[in-house]
Amino acid sequence: MTDKARPLLVTGGAGFIGSAVVRQAVARGLRVVNLDALTYAACPANVASVADSDLYTFEHADIRDRAALDRIFARHRPGTVMHLAAESHVDRSIDGPGAFIDTNVMGTYTLLEAARAHWQAEGRPDDFRFHHISTDEVYGSLGTDGLFTEDTPYDPRSPYSASKASSDHLVRAWGETYGLPVVLTNCSNNYGPFHFPEKLIPVVIIRALDGHEIPIYGAGENVRDWLYVEDHADALLTVAARGQVGRSYNIGGNAERRNIDLVRAICGILDEMRPAAAPYGDQIVFVADRPGHDARYAIDASRIRDELGWKPSVTLDEGLRRTVRWYLDNEDWWRALMTRDGVGKRLGRA
Ligand SMILES: NC(=O)c1ccc[n+]([C@@H]2O[C@H](COP(=O)([O-])OP(=O)(O)OC[C@H]3O[C@@H](n4cnc5c(N)ncnc54)[C@H](O)[C@@H]3O)[C@@H](O)[C@H]2O)c1
Repeated sequence: MTDKARPLLVTGGAGFIGSAVVRQAVARGLRVVNLDALTYAACPANVASVADSDLYTFEHADIRDRAALDRIFARHRPGTVMHLAAESHVDRSIDGPGAFIDTNVMGTYTLLEAARAHWQAEGRPDDFRFHHISTDEVYGSLGTDGLFTEDTPYDPRSPYSASKASSDHLVRAWGETYGLPVVLTNCSNNYGPFHFPEKLIPVVIIRALDGHEIPIYGAGENVRDWLYVEDHADALLTVAARGQVGRSYNIGGNAERRNIDLVRAICGILDEMRPAAAPYGDQIVFVADRPGHDARYAIDASRIRDELGWKPSVTLDEGLRRTVRWYLDNEDWWRALMTRDGVGKRLGRA
């Protein structure tokens, strides 16, 4: 992103994290092309606040469609690609792994090839970046101690994480073999506004408000490290601009919580912001665990902090309050998504 004259091409910019990147990049005065296939997980409303900006362009395209990618690269001549488009829901990957291989593996391969052709046609500029956005789930599962570092061996355990691990390997290989200037990030669980209502935190808020049981997988002992989505977008723009070519950076929130504690915290915030006849925590029920449910993820984010000066700015308690407030204030947004295929149903029982 050193060449400010060239736009930033964001794939998956109508999704949860991609839309946060798009909004922040436009707010910083960057030209942004948002390439998205608008799958079930996309929501154009997520980028409505920037849709009329001169800095923003939308391209409706699939990352598996090489001809469409070539046209888009030729039309916009991006200086940076930030690749977020993916199938992203672990439970759906258990029911239908094929879509995850198609988009996350084949789609990333196709995008890499289109980016490489573009980069070569432009004379192999050093300041071009292909930034691949990945997950901490590629590292597998931790016991009660330890943290994932960038050197932790890959050990993916779900079809989702295996497909993301595959795409990470492809990106590294394109860097080593063809010299494509790549950079990678692996982030912990995100949460915040515009989170699609099939993921844990919005599910808890919505089911609590609707008076339904709030399901917790297993005993709720699984531990995740949570990062507010706007902090992730800031970290991504930092890495895209200043990350070292060929390097990967772990991103995390330093905010580990057991699922049960997270859900109780959300219920407590709801009790305060939207009191009901009984405490929302009374709606919690324990259900059969997800097959292969990773016990604990935790990130050592010292590299991005020490080398690029990034650290999270929003604590988990503050981020949860902002998130609950946002869902209370934006019911139209999430109600409209509840009719999409599979939303509100228990998926991924294998
Ligand atoms: N959500 C998290 O907690 C988390 C954590 C770490 C990393 N990630 C990674 O960040 C990225 C974004 O995650 P998210 O939660 O915003 O996902 P999301 O499911 O909310 O959004 C994905 C977006 O990609 C688009 N898309 C899907 N397939 C496509 C295709 N074939 N061609 C073009 N567009 C396509 C969808 O339409 C959607 O807009 C993913 O790569 C994910 O693996 C997510």
